[in-house]
Amino acid sequence: MPAPSILFVCLGNICRSPLAEGIYRHLTEAASEKPLIASAGIGGWHVGNPPDRRSIKVAAAKGIDIARQRAQQVRPADFFDFDLVVAMDKSNLARLQTLMPPSATARLHLFSELAFGTLQDVPDPYHGDLADFEAVYSMLFSGCSAVVAKFE
Ligand code: 4NP
Repeated sequence: MPAPSILFVCLGNICRSPLAEGIYRHLTEAASEKPLIASAGIGGWHVGNPPDRRSIKVAAAKGIDIARQRAQQVRPADFFDFDLVVAMDKSNLARLQTLMPPSATARLHLFSELAFGTLQDVPDPYHGDLADFEAVYSMLFSGCSAVVAKFE
């Protein structure tokens, strides 16, 4: 199966989905195929901003640089440009279902469902502390590893 292009989506595109994008890119950087990997937010509040400094910090501690990413908002074209659109939580998924054009070609998934076959949310760490970001990093790392293995 060719490696799919993938868009990770959370609410603000500054905490969870930039981490998912950075981890997924890191895990696939040795592959010969280079599918599109990106992230976006349901909301547009942070468009153009770098990731939250706590996401940058937990990724940097693992050798992953996400500091040059810039937040963007989900666009209808994303549902045609990507093979997979992956929501961090059930609320994001519900919003994406309402935004998805009927003729969309992308497949929409909850992250945990695609990665682990479960229906867990990747918890929003925005109002939390660094330990919450570390927990999110761990969940995203194991989930992204599972997704990469699925398409190898
Ligand atoms: P994210 O976290 O969805 O993981 O990027 C959030 C970031 C910002 C806000 C909410 C969640 N906000 O309300 O601004």
